[in-house]
Amino acid sequence: MRHFLWLCDYSKEEIKEIIDLAFQIKTETKNGVYKPYLKHQQLAMIFEKSSTRTRVSFEAGINQLGGNGLFLSSRDIQLGRGEPLKDTARVITRMVDLVMIRTFGQERLEEFAKYSKVPVINGLTDLCHPVQLLADLMTMIEFNKFDFNNPQNTTAAYVGDGNNMAHSWAILASKLGFNLRIATPKGYEIDENIKQKAIEFAKTSGAKLEFLYDPKAAVKDADVVTTDTWVSMGQEEEKEKRINDFRGFEVDTELMELAKQDSIFLHCLPAYRGYEVSEEVFESHAEEIFTEAENRLHAQKGLMVWLKK
Ligand code: CP
Ligand code: NVA
Repeated sequence: MRHFLWLCDYSKEEIKEIIDLAFQIKTETKNGVYKPYLKHQQLAMIFEKSSTRTRVSFEAGINQLGGNGLFLSSRDIQLGRGEPLKDTARVITRMVDLVMIRTFGQERLEEFAKYSKVPVINGLTDLCHPVQLLADLMTMIEFNKFDFNNPQNTTAAYVGDGNNMAHSWAILASKLGFNLRIATPKGYEIDENIKQKAIEFAKTSGAKLEFLYDPKAAVKDADVVTTDTWVSMGQEEEKEKRINDFRGFEVDTELMELAKQDSIFLHCLPAYRGYEVSEEVFESHAEEIFTEAENRLHAQKGLMVWLKK
């Protein structure tokens, strides 16, 4: 049994298997064929934070695969009233076939997985958001910005907060072997442990990783530009300070012009215009961004089927 807690546990070959399966299922459903790969299987979806995309894509996804999704907000289940996480895990995983959790610390996810009888999927933690990166990878492939056989031909630039999204990009790039430049303001660099892991993986994959403070240097001639909110869930009290500290890090037209002419722009969403991205950049790249959002559905269907194979 495998869990999907972070991309560090996955090889390039395994990531490719999941993505191949996701594309196969995407093609089937685009042709109106809904194969019951997970007939009668129950997916519990535990949310300790808000969600639009993760909730809808997992619930629609499991239903399309012939199974059923149970939406469990921590506000409604006993977990929110103090029932221990390990007890919650031992109860729920005797009744369902798969679990997805969105929570705060990575250690909560790990604790749940430790007591689980079934595969556990990370639906976002403070540390990383690996299912989002599966969708981002599918989108890069569809827009001809990534090829598993020639990963070194891709350069991606992440501009903004050294948060769960930045961490996930660092791990993905270092596992697959594409080049990544991360530009953050001083004081908002990525987690040191994640950085060291990425540097280690890059020794095998050949990925070139750069950790910068200058968004312009990061974006120069990039094939893919991406960013994320400056104020992640749980950081609402720091909003004012963060907005001040991130001045100069907005992905606007001037910055995008430094990237390759045919570069794409990705955003995991929700997007805050006038902060991490300008309205103009967002709307001129809406096709990529909403394909990326749709790919959450397809990527996670591939992942769920892969985990239950
Ligand atoms: N990108 C993402 O995970 O969106 P939600 O928070 O809406 O699930
Ligand atoms: N970094 C953001 C991502 C939201 C999908 C957050 O954690 O809130």
